[in-house]
Amino acid sequence: LAKAEVELASIPEGKNVIIKWRGKPVFIRHRTPEEIEEARTVDLKALRDPQRDEDRVKKPEWLVMLGVCTHLGCVPIGESGDYGGWFCPCHGSHYDISGRARKGPAPLNLEIPPYDFNEADGKLIV
Ligand code: FES
Repeated sequence: LAKAEVELASIPEGKNVIIKWRGKPVFIRHRTPEEIEEARTVDLKALRDPQRDEDRVKKPEWLVMLGVCTHLGCVPIGESGDYGGWFCPCHGSHYDISGRARKGPAPLNLEIPPYDFNEADGKLIV
């Protein structure tokens, strides 16, 4: 099982990092308090794939997900789109700051890979 590790202290608040895991991009965002608030106050009825932000993260400030559009698999672009999250340029899907599909053809939210925090050395292990 290939594992990928990231030093969390190297990712400042409000920044994205992309790592590779099993040949796929994994997006890691260090979310700001405002972004967490935004992700958690969305009306679930407005979502096509309704999921609470609380169920998509282990720690509110760290959003970890596969960077693979759920439409046809392109890699969405960070810090863009109409919902303050990601935008997939292939066919125009917009994802919010929890990686949930909001607009365009993507049917599902960006997938969450298995991951863990190593509190002892401040690393994220995917
Ligand atoms: Fe992302 Fe089609 S692959 S919108």
